[in-house]
Amino acid sequence: MNELLVIEDLEVEFRERGEVSNQPLRGVNLRIGRGEILGVVGETGCGKSLTGLAVLGLLPAGAVPSGRILLDGAEQELGRPSPHRGDVVSLVFQNPGTAFNPVFTLGAQMDAVVARHRSGGGGRGLDRKARRAHVLDYLEQVGLPDPERVYASYPHELSGGMLQRAMIAMALVCEPKLLILDEPTTALDVTIAKQILELVLALRDRFDFGVMLITHNLGVVREICDRVAVLYAGRVIETGGTEQVLTAPSHPYTRGLLGALPARHRSGERLDAITGSVPARLVGVTGCVFAPRCPIAIERCLTEDPELVEVPGAADGDAGAVAHTSACIRTGELR
Ligand SMILES: Nc1ncnc2c1ncn2[C@@H]1O[C@H](COP(=O)(O)OP(=O)(O)OP(=O)(O)O)[C@@H](O)[C@H]1O
Ligand code: SF4
Ligand SMILES: [Mg+2]
Repeated sequence: MNELLVIEDLEVEFRERGEVSNQPLRGVNLRIGRGEILGVVGETGCGKSLTGLAVLGLLPAGAVPSGRILLDGAEQELGRPSPHRGDVVSLVFQNPGTAFNPVFTLGAQMDAVVARHRSGGGGRGLDRKARRAHVLDYLEQVGLPDPERVYASYPHELSGGMLQRAMIAMALVCEPKLLILDEPTTALDVTIAKQILELVLALRDRFDFGVMLITHNLGVVREICDRVAVLYAGRVIETGGTEQVLTAPSHPYTRGLLGALPARHRSGERLDAITGSVPARLVGVTGCVFAPRCPIAIERCLTEDPELVEVPGAADGDAGAVAHTSACIRTGELR
């Protein structure tokens, strides 16, 4: 069993007065292997963060999930954090400035995390001194100069880039098998962002954890992801090897994201970006949810629900190729 994370038909809905008011996840399917970095991309509101939060059992109040999530082979109870989930997954947020509590030193906050996670199981009995050494070790692993000083610092005393490194160290102190990074570089300037991505790559090579990298930035995906899953309106609409998807996108939405749609579509206008936006609320969708924005939509798209299927010809003659799938009823015609 080489899959670290398996998500099958994950749905999340919100209800108001007993009625479904929004269904932001409508059957997400994705997998992450050991040591693999999967990029989860899509426009704002498409369900990236909800997917990550569902894996952690940290969905917002009122969210009703269904489907399956297997972590390291173990089925997770949806909708509530399992006591052992923290040993398996860790989350790094977009804004390192708000992720730490301003009134405690970084060392105290990281020590509390280690103490909590090491109070039972294999690490029982780590005393204060051992925990401190453990935290300092990780501060060093993430490339922070002078770990002792960082340990004793308050969050406001560090720069954004340093805080993001400390945040990654805090996620790693429990030695998780899966790291979920939700827009880890969005709040950072370009140079620092690049260093953080390089750090994630280096740490992955050293510790062999899997990574779910949530981002709206395809440049970030190109930089470090092995595979990519493109999300649209609560579903994965295309997935494959990074190179495959970025150089030969199959789904019209991915083509739109990449500005790779044909320069002229049926009405004769130029189409660089995708016009329109993700529906704000999803309830009772029929047919392809992308149809209102799709330049190649046909009558059938309004009634048929496209499934995620293998892109024809994508892996021809290459038995070891990563599966390339797309959820568009015209996938076959597009190649
Ligand atoms: N607490 C909530 N109550 C009701 N609907 C919610 C709630 N949280 C999220 N949603 C719905 O779920 C959708 C997806 O949210 P999510 O945070 O996963 O988007 P995202 O892809 O991470 O977007 P962004 O790129 O802006 O972070 C939202 O557009 C919203 O409709
Ligand atoms: S199924 Fe139809 S509307 Fe949906 S992406 Fe394909 S062509 Fe466009
Ligand atoms: Mg988000």
